[in-house]
Amino acid sequence: MIALARKYRPKRFADLVAQDHVAAALRGAVAQNRAAHGYLFAGPRGVGKTTAARILAMALNCERRTDAGEPCGVCGSCTRIWVGAADLDVVELDAASNRGVDDARDLRERAMYAASTEARFKVYIVDEAHMLTREAWNALLKVLEEPPPRVVFVFATTEPQKIVQSAAPILSRLQRFDFRRIGPHAIVARLKEVIAAEGGGLAAADDALHLIAKSAGGGMRDALSVLDQVLSFGEGPVTVARVREVLGLIADDIYGEMLRLVTERDPPAVFALVDRLMEAGADLGEFVSGAGETLRAVLLAGLGGEPAGLTEGLQELVRRYAPRLAPPDVVRLLTVLSEAEGQIRSSGNDGADGGARGGDRGVERRRTGGPADRRTESSGRLGASRCSAVFAYQSGRPAVRPSARARPAHPRSPARPVAAGRCRRACAESDARRASGRHGGGLRR
Ligand SMILES: Nc1ncnc2c1ncn2[C@@H]1O[C@H](COP(=O)(O)OP(=O)(O)OP(=O)(O)O)[C@@H](O)[C@H]1O
Ligand SMILES: [Mg+2]
Ligand SMILES: [Zn+2]
Repeated sequence: MIALARKYRPKRFADLVAQDHVAAALRGAVAQNRAAHGYLFAGPRGVGKTTAARILAMALNCERRTDAGEPCGVCGSCTRIWVGAADLDVVELDAASNRGVDDARDLRERAMYAASTEARFKVYIVDEAHMLTREAWNALLKVLEEPPPRVVFVFATTEPQKIVQSAAPILSRLQRFDFRRIGPHAIVARLKEVIAAEGGGLAAADDALHLIAKSAGGGMRDALSVLDQVLSFGEGPVTVARVREVLGLIADDIYGEMLRLVTERDPPAVFALVDRLMEAGADLGEFVSGAGETLRAVLLAGLGGEPAGLTEGLQELVRRYAPRLAPPDVVRLLTVLSEAEGQIRSSGNDGADGGARGGDRGVERRRTGGPADRRTESSGRLGASRCSAVFAYQSGRPAVRPSARARPAHPRSPARPVAAGRCRRACAESDARRASGRHGGGLRR
């Protein structure tokens, strides 16, 4: 079965979601026969860079192009280019595996030959362009400066700053377009279109699609891949529970329990909660982010606002607990949490690839394995900070502000005997780990 992300790759500029600024400029250039010789498409993963490059190549070579500059999308040439099949005139290269000066010289020489027929354009789409070496760029400099007629280069990259560093002179010869992250509402709308186009009585809850969109962190490819996985995960409509299962997301009731124990000042329950998280193989970074999001919603609700973008279950929890938590306390908790989040990130234990929350992470995590893997990704170092968050609240004192490496004060405080035993253990474990220079050893039980 063909992946949804490939099956629903847009065929016209007008179908590119959230990149209207790019689509309008390219369409106009094609319509007026003013296409540039070199483009740089920069932007995050899965937002339409390669797609836009292919649509541009289709438009330049389509026999039935509209006056507005859109390709027909169905002729032989369009179809070949759209699927990325071998085409005499449109060549896609991956700079990751063709990065050297010889590859660039080869490309330069091939570009010197005219397109297969008078009417056609030669288009070179170079993906991962930041991987090209300085020498490779130098070899391309000349051809970009005085390009043969009807040759267009499109360089696509997720890391334009690397090109700025290694090949600044190139940039002045390219027209640069910055692709945007795609907002959750636009992603949900697209997912709905795809589900409708798939037919077969597929149904999906709005909640579930929002969850997918959120986890995709602005990338349409990731959103479609998750939808693919959720669809193959089971029968029936796409529900929040199914999405959560596939993404390994933390269930709402865990956040509910967090709110309860904080509201009712129930320290021993912290450990049961952490145990549950560990048992479920939850990603602690994920939990801390989710806890932050929940608390921000509580804060907003407490101030009379209406939090948006939550699942119904979470919304209900927020409504229930907001009146019982004073906004200044929530702010204090948020401060501690954000520090804990920073610590997890910097220790590389959040299961993310260093990017923003969401992003490729969902996909990455699913690639690296299930709960057992996730557990080992989580560091005992969090032991200290997660306790500090809760205890700071419960003790009514200002949050401890641990530096990245400092030990929060609470585990050694005699004021909280119940917690001390467990905390000492967690802290001792993380001390031992740090002393032995190991990170990410996980909390083993
Ligand atoms: N703006 C968009 N509108 C509609 N669909 C999109 C958009 N961007 C991406 N997609 C979907 O995601 C898939 C992958 O997009 P594409 O290959 O263009 O991403 P990319 O920006 O080149 O990513 P990468 O940096 O990983 O190469 C497309 O086949 C399409 O289904
Ligand atoms: Mg690409
Ligand atoms: Zn066509």
